[in-house]
Amino acid sequence: MTAPVLEIHLSASAAADALHHDARVGLVADPKWLPPKWFYDARGSELFEQITTLPEYYPTRTERELLRRTVRTIAARAAVGTLVELGSGSAEKTRVLLDALTATGSLRRFVPLDVSESVVRATMAAVAREYLELTVHGVVGDFTQHLEVLPADQDGRRLVAFLGGTIGNLLPEERAGFFTALRAALEPGELLLLGAGLVTDPAVMVPAYDDATGVTAEFNRNVLRVLNRELGADFEVDAFDHVAVWDATHEWIEMRLRARRAMTVRLPAVGMTVHYAEGEEMRTEVSGKFRREGLGTELTTAGFTDQVWWTDPDDRFALVLAAAAW
Ligand code: SAH
Ligand code: TRP
Repeated sequence: MTAPVLEIHLSASAAADALHHDARVGLVADPKWLPPKWFYDARGSELFEQITTLPEYYPTRTERELLRRTVRTIAARAAVGTLVELGSGSAEKTRVLLDALTATGSLRRFVPLDVSESVVRATMAAVAREYLELTVHGVVGDFTQHLEVLPADQDGRRLVAFLGGTIGNLLPEERAGFFTALRAALEPGELLLLGAGLVTDPAVMVPAYDDATGVTAEFNRNVLRVLNRELGADFEVDAFDHVAVWDATHEWIEMRLRARRAMTVRLPAVGMTVHYAEGEEMRTEVSGKFRREGLGTELTTAGFTDQVWWTDPDDRFALVLAAAAW
C-alpha cells in the first residue's frame, strides 16, 4: 500500500456557507425544513451508529445479510481495482465487500466519502489498519456536489457502493440529479452497488425511525444542537418532540421536530429570528422506500444497465448491482 490520502472538498468555511444558506432557505419556508446532512457532526454520527444496532432498525442487519449472501457474485462480476463508498459512515458493513474484493486480489484502493470529517478520518484509520494491502483515499465531500472529483482507477474498474438506504434521504428531484451525475462521473462498465429500503408494512417501517429507547429522537434533535453551535442559535433542544410518520403518497418516512410550545429562536450568525407556533412541525428528513419497477426505471433512465437485484426473504431491503452503460 501507499500512504493514506485525505482530500477535503468541503472545507469548514464551505460547510459553514452551506449551513447558512440552508438555514436561510429552510427556516423561512412554510412548512419549515432542514436538509438531513446537518445531523452528522461527530455526536450525530455516533448516534447514527447506535441506531444501526437497535432491534427496531432492520435496514442495517438486513443489508449486511444481503451483502454476505451476494458478495461472491459481486466480486466475480468484474475485477474491481477501487471501491468507492458514498456516505460511508463507519463502513462497518463494507468490511464484507472489502474482504471479498481483497480475496480475489484485484482491489488496491478504498475511497470512503462522507460529509463528516471525523467519520472519514476514523474510517480511514480503521480500514488502513485492518487491510494492510489497501491504499486508503478518504474524501470529505458532499455526494450531491462532489462526484466529479472521485479519483479514477488507472488500470482497473471502480465499484461505487451507496449503502444504508441513504439514496432514500434525497428528494425525488435530487435523486434524479444524483443518478445522472454519478453516471457521468463513471466510465462505461464501472459498477454501482446500491442498497435501498423497500416499501413494506408501516408497522415495521415506522418503529425503525421511532425506537422505544429514544435514540432516534436524540439523533433528530441533534440537528438543533448543530444549529446552536454553528449559528449561535438558541434552540431549546428539549422543547422539540421527535415525530416519524409514514407518508403513503410519497412512499417515504418523514422525520419532523414538533415544537411543544410557541417559541422564538434567534440565529445571530444568519441574522434571523424564527417563530414556532405550539405544535408546529419542521421536516428534518425523508427516508424514501422503493418498489423495484420504479427504482429500476430510474436507474435505467440515468444510464445504469445490466441490473442484478437481490432482496431479503421479507422484501424489506434491496441490493442492486448495475453497470454504467456504454
Ligand atoms: N453507509 C453507512 C452510513 C449511512 S448514514 C451505513 O450504511 O450504515 C448516512 C451517511 O451519509 C452518514 O455517514 C452521513 O454523514 C453521510 N451523508 C449524509 N448526507 C451526505 C451528503 N450530502 N454527502 C456525503 N455524505 C453524506
Ligand atoms: N439512511 C438512514 C435511513 O434512511 C438514515 C436514518 C436512519 C435516519 N434513521 C434515521 C435519519 C432517523 C433521520 C432520523 O434509514
